[in-house]
Amino acid sequence: MKVLVIGSGGREHAICQAVAKSSRVDEIICAPGNAGIATMQVEGKKISCEPIGAMEFDKLVAFAKANSVDFTIVGMDDPLVGGIVDAFEAEGLKVFGPRKNAAILEGSKAFSKDLMKKYGIPTAAYENFDDPEKALAYLETAKMPIVLKADGLALGKGVLICNTLEEAKAGVKEIMEDKKFGDAGNHMVIEEFMTGREVSVLSFVDGKSIQIMSSAQDHKRAGDGDTGLNTGGMGTFSPSPFYTAEVDAFCKEHIYQKTVDAMAAEGREFKGVIFFGLMLTEDGPKVLEYNARFGDPEAQVVLPRMKNDIIDVMEACVDGKLDSLKLEFEDNAAVCVVLASEGYPVSYQKGFAITGFEKFDNENFFCFHAGTALNEAGEIVTNGGRVLGVTAKGADLVSARAKAYEATEWIDFANKYMRHDIGKAIDEA
Ligand code: AMP
Ligand code: GLY
Repeated sequence: MKVLVIGSGGREHAICQAVAKSSRVDEIICAPGNAGIATMQVEGKKISCEPIGAMEFDKLVAFAKANSVDFTIVGMDDPLVGGIVDAFEAEGLKVFGPRKNAAILEGSKAFSKDLMKKYGIPTAAYENFDDPEKALAYLETAKMPIVLKADGLALGKGVLICNTLEEAKAGVKEIMEDKKFGDAGNHMVIEEFMTGREVSVLSFVDGKSIQIMSSAQDHKRAGDGDTGLNTGGMGTFSPSPFYTAEVDAFCKEHIYQKTVDAMAAEGREFKGVIFFGLMLTEDGPKVLEYNARFGDPEAQVVLPRMKNDIIDVMEACVDGKLDSLKLEFEDNAAVCVVLASEGYPVSYQKGFAITGFEKFDNENFFCFHAGTALNEAGEIVTNGGRVLGVTAKGADLVSARAKAYEATEWIDFANKYMRHDIGKAIDEA
């Protein structure tokens, strides 16, 4: 079977790695992919990258048809929200991911908040605004801190947590008037500030039923001790020790299936991955946000622990037959430490040669590429803010973390930067 994976980050590298484990697959093509995917070597598999952008739907569809691709997996949010699944389906191609009318679950925060309110799914109290004057008037009597969210996709950066009325007013201006996040800020959600631990729960959904994957936790801030700017994610661990049986039972009753049913009731049947960003508050778990795809870097710690053949699971989602199988995860743990370019997420240099890939065995140690490229000399060089996701599995979280940090020492490049406290929360569990 020939599989096309769409995207270019660490998440897509982890997806390709999982697909390469499927005995049903003999060829994987990733568009546009990255240097790590292009240099993957798995016995019996042909793996390559195709330089077509994730938003070039016509070219991707034409490529899939011309090359008899059997199954396409979309990793990234932008093409999903833009309707890539509809474009593939219109040509009779089999594709994993939500259609445009369902990917709105991630594409519009106002939509997802209204959905949760309508169907009684626990989330922070909020108001939607499309007029900055009304937003400013609302803030006058609102309790601080408060959270402002640009409605649309903003590379994970469209959320402002404001401690004072002045900050909040400036935030409304940034989002709605200065359009700091572009058209994503045409509408805005203002919501109650919540406190608690965050947990990421990824799930497979077939339109009607849902099965959750092992939990994970992300570290969004750039610096140790959760300081500095928000990033795409500086590291993850899985499972989360805070995702207890009690939390699981609550979410199964009040959040997961309810979300799937709500989407179906709205005529927006969801097939693909729903990522539940949860906050465990004093009043119980609440939904912070939904994403319509695997998390990055959550995929890097969850997929290496999945026992099922990923193609079986994804095909079951597309065919509406997820009930016919049971998701299984290894009884162990994984930790991913992101190696970034010093200066990320603001400004950084790139083009530095990277060494030290030899020891990663893709069994217990993985080096997922995010921002890398092959230069003319055929060397792998840094090509982005988040460069690599160094991941290790261990019998438990403590040993996985020790191994992941050990493996970060194997890799060398000129402006290598990482957080040193990924998984510190493990010690508090
Ligand atoms: P989101 O993109 O909605 O996940 O927001 C990004 C981050 O902002 C989350 O991971 C939280 O850390 C934080 N955040 C979002 N909404 C809230 C909220 N209502 N209260 C507190 N923190 C929040
Ligand atoms: N790691 C958070 C995300 O993928 O949105």
